Amino acid sequence: MTSPVSHHGSYEYQDPKSEEEVVNVTFIDRSGNKVPVRGKIGDNILYLAHRYGIELEGACEASLACSTCHVYVDDNYTDLLPDPVEEEDDMLDLAVFLRDNSRLGCQIILTKELDGMTLTLPQATRNFYVDGHVPKPH
Ligand code: FES
Repeated sequence: MTSPVSHHGSYEYQDPKSEEEVVNVTFIDRSGNKVPVRGKIGDNILYLAHRYGIELEGACEASLACSTCHVYVDDNYTDLLPDPVEEEDDMLDLAVFLRDNSRLGCQIILTKELDGMTLTLPQATRNFYVDGHVPKPH
């Protein structure tokens, strides 16, 4: 299986070259803290989160074989994202705390129209990819 995502994070570590490229997003971490981040067009949400120290796991490195990069997308922005491919839906079916606005972070690529989007981390993720262990939510 090939992933639609071909890069592995180096792009996200480059600063936007111009204001036109900037896409501001806000992460809400598992403690409920809001973390505003200056992303840019083309950034992958998983790697952008890593750059800014957000604890969004990416156990399978964006290869659509886990659900540890599960995020909730701001309701105002869900329609602006391309529909999930079948593999993403299959992985989301296995995610805990699934909601209507659940997506896999590693499949979200920033575009200018996503400026202002909030991404919320679920309380817990299930990492069956690495060890099959199901974390118990506290
Ligand atoms: S990191 Fe595994 S599907 Fe996103």
